[in-house]
Amino acid sequence: MKTIGVLTSGGDAPGMNAAIRAVVRCGIYNGLTVKGIMRGYQGLIDDEIEDMTLSSVGDIIQRGGTILRTARSAEFKTKEGRAKAAEVLKKHGIEGLVIIGGDGSFRGAQLLSNEHGVNTIGIPGTIDNDIPCTDYTIGFDTACNTAIDAINKIRDTATSHERANIIEVMGRNAGYIALYAGLAGGAEIIIIPEVKFDIDEVCDKISYGIKRGKLHHIIVLAEGVMSGLELSKMIQERLPKLDLRHTTLGHIQRGGAPSVMDRIIASQMGSRAVELLLENKSQRIISIRNNQIVDDDIDTALAMRKEFNFKLYELSKILSI
Ligand code: F6P
Repeated sequence: MKTIGVLTSGGDAPGMNAAIRAVVRCGIYNGLTVKGIMRGYQGLIDDEIEDMTLSSVGDIIQRGGTILRTARSAEFKTKEGRAKAAEVLKKHGIEGLVIIGGDGSFRGAQLLSNEHGVNTIGIPGTIDNDIPCTDYTIGFDTACNTAIDAINKIRDTATSHERANIIEVMGRNAGYIALYAGLAGGAEIIIIPEVKFDIDEVCDKISYGIKRGKLHHIIVLAEGVMSGLELSKMIQERLPKLDLRHTTLGHIQRGGAPSVMDRIIASQMGSRAVELLLENKSQRIISIRNNQIVDDDIDTALAMRKEFNFKLYELSKILSI
């Protein structure tokens, strides 16, 4: 293998740049030519390819987002689109491809491999932490830190006004950001898709907290359950006198300087991706499990079921009585 490519696909996540840097620098260190593919699979189809040098990834480890940009491509989902992508790879002599993204992006990589014999390696990058094979995905830690920073600030004003605040966090259909940020941010109530939601229980907890003299109530809500506005209406119907506000954190959770943990995991995964390509491996997904960097065949990886940490959820309930 002489030439490899790297792209980012799907939603961006803080730490993707650290992963790109690791792929480029480890590739060059091992004598490979490394090409950067702009705008994910769509950029590949459109032949948006740049030569990467040591300095093209200088000064990026601390930056959020992705210097390669990202996109979702409907064309790549078609056989014709993938055939075009394979032609472009051939033209540039790219034999191995590193895909930094989510499980949808990995499925695309698998099809490209099966149909056109390109070696593909996936690195999990998403703030949602919802990829089954890995304990952590790149971006999750930074997103949680951003969320607790916001929770801390909202708590200051909630305490001053003796208010309740709903903070809606991202996570798509998963409750990881809500659980981790809620527990670390000392939330009174955490609402996640993995646990059946009971509005009466939520309102009873708020009423009990008011009786015992709590100055504020922080309710962290995962977007996969409902919106902050919907929850706010449900609570106000039952507790009309409650002074309640809601905040949707939105895309601030996707940006910002990556945390130490995200930079380290991204660097290790980027390096492992290059090693796997040098070993002529293909259709592997890199993960972190029990603090070890491991890799699995894509079918095995995506068929895994992640055990949701219900113990952590129970702990959050105990700590917020
Ligand atoms: O997958 C990352 C994520 O930020 C989710 O948490 C969220 O539901 C979604 O992407 C938002 O997507 P978009 O940036 O397309 O609005």
